[in-house]
Amino acid sequence: MLGINIGKNLHTPVDNAISDYRICLQKVYPLADYISLNVSSPNTPGLRDLQGESALDELLYAIDETRKSLQDQYQFNRPIALKVAPDLDDDEIPVIAELLKKHQIDALIATNTTLDRSLVQGHSNAIQAGGLSGEALCQKSRDLLSQFHQVLQGEIPIISVGGINSAEEVRLRMQLGASLVQLYTGLIYQGPKLVREAAAVRL
Ligand SMILES: Cc1cc2nc3c(=O)[nH]c(=O)nc-3n(C[C@H](O)[C@H](O)[C@H](O)COP(=O)(O)O)c2cc1C
Repeated sequence: MLGINIGKNLHTPVDNAISDYRICLQKVYPLADYISLNVSSPNTPGLRDLQGESALDELLYAIDETRKSLQDQYQFNRPIALKVAPDLDDDEIPVIAELLKKHQIDALIATNTTLDRSLVQGHSNAIQAGGLSGEALCQKSRDLLSQFHQVLQGEIPIISVGGINSAEEVRLRMQLGASLVQLYTGLIYQGPKLVREAAAVRL
């Protein structure tokens, strides 16, 4: 299965972001099994502003409209997921959940990397630029999963990602409401066997 993650270009002003997403969606639609909308990478200036209510409403409206015309053109549907940051405020969570439902987004991916350096305070590399992944992100990612699950109540599946490095952690994410999980940093430390272990987990 191939998931393709799309976002605006580094140099596209955030006000023009929608056209980048539309073009990317049109290009990858016939190739991907599912498509993820990245509004949460901390490395693209302004990208996370797209998680704000009016910007996200506009973006998801455009995505839904483009998707409908692609469905007509190709005669098949490709699921679309929204990938969010772990650094959201509590009051942003119900707003995003409502917009997912309003625009018929198929899944939520929680989370991208964090900018929160308190998690690695005192570490010699703590001040390096960029998003933080792996173990330091684990609790934040669990918390966001729980918060979204509380609001979505299974209406939209949640794909949990962030600091998953064992089968036990996969089980916990499922107990917290995840329908699926994704692995990245855990693969570096545990190797590909982690995929088989994760896939064998049943509640
Ligand atoms: C080197 C690196 C590059 C990444 N690039 C992207 C990206 O292009 N788009 C995206 O949505 N997330 C990206 N991520 C975030 C990961 O997909 C994932 O959400 C995050 O690392 C948390 O999972 P983990 O703790 O298992 O790594 C990247 C992460 C890392 C470490």
